[in-house]
Parts: sequence; C-alpha cells; structure tokens
Amino acid sequence: MSSYRIALNFEDGVTRFLDCRAGEKLLDAAYRNQINLPMDCSDGVCGTCKCRSETGTYDLGDDYIEDALTAGEAASRLVLTCQMRPTSDGIVSVPTRSSVCKTAQQKLATTVTRVTAHGDAAVVLELQMEGDCRPQFLPGQYINIDVPGSAASRSYSFTTAPGENHLGFLIRKLPVGLMSNWLSHAKPGDRVTATGPLGSFYLRDTERPLLFLAGGTGLAPFLSMLEVLVAKQSWQPVHLVYGVTKDEDLVLIDVLESYVDRLPDFSFTTVVADQGSKHPRKGWVTDHMPTGLLSGETDIYLCGPPPMVDAVRTWLSAHDISPNSFHYEKFTPNLTLKESA
Ligand SMILES: Cc1cc2nc3c(=O)[nH]c(=O)nc-3n(C[C@H](O)[C@H](O)[C@H](O)COP(=O)(O)OP(=O)(O)OC[C@H]3O[C@@H](n4cnc5c(N)ncnc54)[C@H](O)[C@@H]3O)c2cc1C
Ligand code: FES
Repeated sequence: MSSYRIALNFEDGVTRFLDCRAGEKLLDAAYRNQINLPMDCSDGVCGTCKCRSETGTYDLGDDYIEDALTAGEAASRLVLTCQMRPTSDGIVSVPTRSSVCKTAQQKLATTVTRVTAHGDAAVVLELQMEGDCRPQFLPGQYINIDVPGSAASRSYSFTTAPGENHLGFLIRKLPVGLMSNWLSHAKPGDRVTATGPLGSFYLRDTERPLLFLAGGTGLAPFLSMLEVLVAKQSWQPVHLVYGVTKDEDLVLIDVLESYVDRLPDFSFTTVVADQGSKHPRKGWVTDHMPTGLLSGETDIYLCGPPPMVDAVRTWLSAHDISPNSFHYEKFTPNLTLKESA
C-alpha cells in the first residue's frame, strides 16, 4: 500500500516525520505513530484540530462544518487533521508545542568522521550516525549538538541533505567559545550526541524563483537546500548572495561553484564588508541585491548573524519589498534567543 511522508512541524520547532497511508486521515496516522495531535470531536465540528498545510497536496474532506473551517481558511491552506487525507508528501505546521502532543525531539548518537579547518574562519564538521540511522529533517533545519565534556549544547544547521547517514555542518570559529574550543582539538572517532531536528526555517515548495541571502556561516542551511534542489532536479532560478566580513571568511566557494553545474539555473555572488579588501564587491549584502529578483514573485530566504538579518529585513521594508514567501533565521549566540519565521 502506498503512503506519504508527512513532516509535522510543531510550534516549538520540533519536527516529527510519519508515514500516512493513502486514504488515511492525518489525525489517525499521527495517532498510529503515538503522536496525539490536538483534537476534540474528530468529526469536523469543533475546529480544535486545525493546522496549516505548508507544502503538499491533500483531500480536505467534505464532512466538516463552516464553523470548524471557513472557506477563507481552507483557501489559505488551513486543514482539519481529523478530516484531511494527504495525497502527496508534505509538511504540516501544528500550532502547539510538541510536548503537548506527547512527542519530543529525537536524540542522535554520532561519531566524528572529519574536521576540516578553513583558516581561522570556520570549520566543517562531519559526523556519521551510529548504525544505519538516516535522520529525516527539512532542508534548512538545525540540531542542538552537545559540546563534548560539558553540559551545554549549541545549535547548528545541517549542510547535508536529509535522509543520509552522514551529517555535515559549517561552523564559525570564534577565538574563544565552548564549541569553538572543542573543535580545535576534535578528531575522527570522537563521539558526539545531538537532539533535533528543529526549526521553522526550511525550504517550502519551490514554485517561484528563489533568492538566498547568507551572512557568514549562515551559508550552512542553504547548502542543504541546494542539495535537495539538485535531488529534485529543480529548474527554478536560484540566486545566492553570500556576504562576509573579511576575505578569509569566504569559504566553500568550490562547493558553490559545483552547484552552477549541478543545477539548471543557479548563480551566486560574494560580497566582502572589509573596505581594505581587494574583492570586486565590497560592502554589505544589501549593497549587492539582484534588483531583477526583488519582485513579489521571488521567494526570499535569509540567514546569518542577528545584525545582518535585521539589516536585510529593514532594507527590504524600506524598499517596500514584501515577497510572497519570506523566511529568515538568526544565528543568535544565546541558545534561549533563537528567532526564525
Ligand atoms: C538556530 C541556530 C542555528 C545556528 N546554526 C549555526 C551554523 O550552522 N553555523 C554556525 O557557525 N553557527 C550557528 N549558530 C550559532 C551557534 O549555535 C553558536 O552560537 C556559535 O557557534 C558559538 O558557539 P561557541 O560555543 O563557539 O561560542 P560560545 O561559548 O557560545 O560564545 C563565546 C563568546 O562569543 C560570543 N559569540 C557567540 N557567537 C558569536 C558571534 N557569531 N559573533 C561574535 N561573538 C559571538 C558569545 O556571546 C560569548 O561571549 C546557530 C545558532 C542558532 C540559534
Ligand atoms: S477534532 Fe473537531 S474538527 Fe477536527
């Protein structure tokens, strides 16, 4: 029997994947997977089970009343999980915390396979899952990696595609920092645990051209998104503007160049803020926006340190640019201050 892979993205950013059988109601599939989605009547009457379908196709069902789901809500992709039956893979946002639904983040056990330093700017950390585990996540999401030898953890966006045994991360090297210090002596064979996946910054359906805006290691989630676009053979135009502070912060340019060959319509520009740099494009990401891609017809994704994200958001609103689909994530240093939309 065929089934569809549905990602439930909870309000606290936790994501759980489940297989929904063809013709099965989402609420029933969740229950079968020990996830208690909010519900009351299970009859399409109360509206308690209302969620938003972010991507994918579905049959809404016709056994519910207007008080539970209005025509306007249905048009904006709100669904009643006690009635809707997915007809493709998709993502559903659940407007409640994962703990309320008796589900939680997953613990991942991994081993370091490679640590590659890019000067003093960044480190690429490669981990292998124990056993044949291939964690599912949405491209753009992150996990919390426990810093070995401490009780703390730090958040890092996947650079690799979902569903692989091998996980990659691009991590900024700070002169002094808990994870940065550990990375300076991390070696293959070290055991590392993590929890996740998390986050509401992920690639939605690609129905329009995409503009990716990355600041520093904010490049990381876009690498995962690009991998998925390659796997999907996406023909949508994708342009990335990658801004850094100093020349040496520009890393993985060869990887970005490889996407020019691997995707039908991918281009990127790099920008360096340091005025002493010999780079042909100096300044901030906002000084080098591709004007042709700034109409409401382009989906914009933005990721980087909080000042960069705030500056771009301010610039977009000052230029009256309100994309159809706009998503951002700040690499906030303090773990309690994650912000994404
Ligand atoms: C959702 C999310 C995803 C993230 N993904 C990534 C990622 O893919 N790659 C990545 O490199 N980082 C990412 N981060 C940031 C990361 O979680 C850590 O905050 C960062 O790596 C610093 O960790 P550390 O242990 O080395 O330093 P810490 O011990 O946390 O900090 C040491 C000192 O440096 C300061 N500091 C921390 N970060 C910065 C900074 N960026 N600039 C200047 N000073 C700073 C701290 O305030 C503190 O004083 C992400 C953050 C969030 C919230
Ligand atoms: S649980 Fe009442 S409408 Fe779905």
